[in-house]
Amino acid sequence: MNMATVRIAPSLLSADFGRLAEEVRKVEEAGADWLHVDVMDGHFVPNLTIGLPVVAALKKVARRPLDVHIMISNPLDYARRYVEAGAAGLTFHVEATSEPGKVIDAIVGAGGRPAMAINPDTPAKRVVPHLDRLAMVLVMSVFPGFGGQTFMPEVLAKFGELRAAGFRGDLEIDGGIGPETIAAAASAGANVFVAGSAIFGAKDVGARIAELRRLAQSSVGADAPAPARH
Ligand code: DX5
Ligand code: ZN
Repeated sequence: MNMATVRIAPSLLSADFGRLAEEVRKVEEAGADWLHVDVMDGHFVPNLTIGLPVVAALKKVARRPLDVHIMISNPLDYARRYVEAGAAGLTFHVEATSEPGKVIDAIVGAGGRPAMAINPDTPAKRVVPHLDRLAMVLVMSVFPGFGGQTFMPEVLAKFGELRAAGFRGDLEIDGGIGPETIAAAASAGANVFVAGSAIFGAKDVGARIAELRRLAQSSVGADAPAPARH
């Protein structure tokens, strides 16, 4: 069961894009569990970052799984290709598609772990009909588009709602996670923690990842309800 496994996923959005392979190696050697890759299309979110060729290039140098977060409109058009390019897990936004079931089919068909993301103003119930097919749900704790934003604690109740709905997969949180916020997220039920600026901005990246892991492990699930039995 994934529920109590703490995973730290540095967001490469805060890496030096001119030295991506070295940045990947640095965070892997510092203890990263997954590499979080933020794909933005300048349409679903007001920023444009990286796309398929960069995911494929990262796959060649990465030793850890690529946790690819696509903040794009019409994810059905691209889901299969991101998995084929190297995404181990692919997370798409429920707000971005009218056919989430088909996006899940595309991810699973290509051999990826399917995950759905919800923005801070999207209720958890939007993903509940799909929970039995998802490996992970991503609860955004900032509005997607940029690194370095302020954590929004009001989203934390969604983790309990997802567990109460019977979800037993991974629960990821993304946005404003650092030493001041990670314990609250872990207590609420998150077990996968994305952090960009808090990791790449640290003087000692290894010490920062270890600190985040320790803080998360000491709080994980403290306030979360036990999953419902079905
Ligand atoms: C925001 C991205 C995040 C971002 C997090 O749209 O999805 O993954 O990189 O950055 P920090 O940890 O700096 O808030
Ligand atoms: Zn992200």
